[in-house]
Amino acid sequence: MKALQESKFFEPLFKHYANSPSVALCRIPELELLSQIQLEHPILDHCCGDGYIAAMAFPKTIMDAGVDLSQKQLDTATQRGKYTRLECADAGIALPFKDGEFATVINNSGIEHIPDLDKSISEITRVLKVGGKVYLNVLNHRYFERWPLSPETANSYRNFQPFHHALDEREWRDVLERHKFKDVTFTDYFPESTSKVLAGLDYRYSAHYFRKRISPLIILERFLPASWLVGRWRTKIGNLPWQALPGTGSGFLISATKAEV
Ligand SMILES: C[S@@+](CC[C@H](N)C(=O)[O-])C[C@H]1O[C@@H](n2cnc3c(N)ncnc32)[C@H](O)[C@@H]1O
Repeated sequence: MKALQESKFFEPLFKHYANSPSVALCRIPELELLSQIQLEHPILDHCCGDGYIAAMAFPKTIMDAGVDLSQKQLDTATQRGKYTRLECADAGIALPFKDGEFATVINNSGIEHIPDLDKSISEITRVLKVGGKVYLNVLNHRYFERWPLSPETANSYRNFQPFHHALDEREWRDVLERHKFKDVTFTDYFPESTSKVLAGLDYRYSAHYFRKRISPLIILERFLPASWLVGRWRTKIGNLPWQALPGTGSGFLISATKAEV
């Protein structure tokens, strides 16, 4: 099983997210797997955020479109110059794209934040061509089953973001097949040990940023050089594995193909 620090994304991610190491940790397997996808144009980056992750995963690719709810994130994505078109919209209501416009839809760590999963998946189906592919990087039910802190902290964490859909394989397969997808596959990451470390970190940093549960250590980190912080995280967690056997990861990359009607 490959260790976090073996990833070529370790250093850039921990530098970029120097003050949010749980985000950096979460993005390592996401980027490792996303960057291996054979993208087919036209591509939609669904819940694209500021575009950093797509730019890291696909440095030579201009994405045909990105959509996100946050205009602030989209402004940063625009400056990155990696999208032909960016739209501000609620992907849980309607996507501002034509039927069958895309051959690939990717969503990195975004779909679990949309309350109406059925609507968001049905909209992805609508904008994909028949034979088009969707890729979703999500944490799953095991992340919360292995939560290392009290159940109350898990509940408040899920409200910070908010995190609506911690589904298992069967539930994801059901929702995707209900919306005309076939060939649903899962590639797992975050074995139990790493999942617990991630959850502990994620809770501490989210509580600090979203709930103002002030952590003096997190404040101090703001004044430390990013390169020093990278070294510290390498020592603390660099040896943890990110890969997981099928059916054992707390996160997975889901892929599915839009079937003929
Ligand atoms: C955790 S961020 C991930 C962003 C990006 N995909 C990445 O990997 O860096 C989740 C993103 O989903 C967006 N989002 C949440 N709910 C949304 C909705 N209903 N419609 C569109 N975007 C949404 C947020 O604005 C945010 O940019």
